[in-house]
Amino acid sequence: MAVYLEFNFKIKPLQPWNEILMAELIEIGFDSFTEEYDGILGYIQKDLFKEEELKNIYLLQNDDVEISYTYEEMPNINWNEEWEKNFSPINVEDKVLIRAEFHDSDPNMHEIVIQPKMSFGTGHHPTTHLMIQQMLDMDLADKKVLDMGCGTSVLAIFAKQKGAGRTVAIDIDEWSVENSKENAVRNNVELDIELGTADNLGKEKFEIILANINRNILISDIPTYVSVLEDGGKLLLSGLCFFDVEDILEVCTEQNLKLEKKIQREEWVSLLLSK
Ligand SMILES: C[S@@+](CC[C@H](N)C(=O)[O-])C[C@H]1O[C@@H](n2cnc3c(N)ncnc32)[C@H](O)[C@@H]1O
Repeated sequence: MAVYLEFNFKIKPLQPWNEILMAELIEIGFDSFTEEYDGILGYIQKDLFKEEELKNIYLLQNDDVEISYTYEEMPNINWNEEWEKNFSPINVEDKVLIRAEFHDSDPNMHEIVIQPKMSFGTGHHPTTHLMIQQMLDMDLADKKVLDMGCGTSVLAIFAKQKGAGRTVAIDIDEWSVENSKENAVRNNVELDIELGTADNLGKEKFEIILANINRNILISDIPTYVSVLEDGGKLLLSGLCFFDVEDILEVCTEQNLKLEKKIQREEWVSLLLSK
């Protein structure tokens, strides 16, 4: 079981900096948060934490906000139970409900049932929401789909439910791979689930690529995604904040991608691009 560090960040003023700080912390490996009245508690696996990376984040150098922090090692607790307790259903436009088995079902909505486990941080909800929102308007029927950074495979499952053909789901994290396999069975869909990164990609091409990861991984891996995207195919991105959009679009423009739709929720953004 991974050993975690708990950071107690005090933030003055709290709004909007708490959300922006969470976004920056996700980029250096924090995977969940609890909001407090005067700041946030943030959690990161001890072996992923690099103090230099924390010190370099831009908010800590910003004169408009005062941020201080302390941290301590967490006792070994059952993270699955904690994650499950903190997981609330996601309602996308009253059309799609992402819920766990222990939540009430809603017969009026399209449902995706996932058991979150450790592959679902609470901080990721807005980006998952954005991806599903964009997918609602996309034609996925019979399309070959790749879900990079699949996490729970919620997006890959939704793609299959919308009629996608072969769907490959890849994640760097073993827990996500295990969890994805369970969630595919739970939702009665067939996924090809792999442990790995963009390095897994080779000759096989896809018509739709979904990637909800983070700014730095996207910037480094978009060229590889584009190399396996069919001409006319779509690349749907999230995991980025409004202040990352320019950098991401620069890479996309270099790859001759065309921006089709940008949507935002809180400080998070999703971009739909075509090749
Ligand atoms: C923000 S979560 C998104 C999960 C899910 N796709 C969703 O939309 O809810 C990002 C996922 O990307 C995975 N990840 C991080 N770096 C990766 C990489 N280089 N290649 C593949 N997956 C990666 C993480 O393990 C995590 O499960």
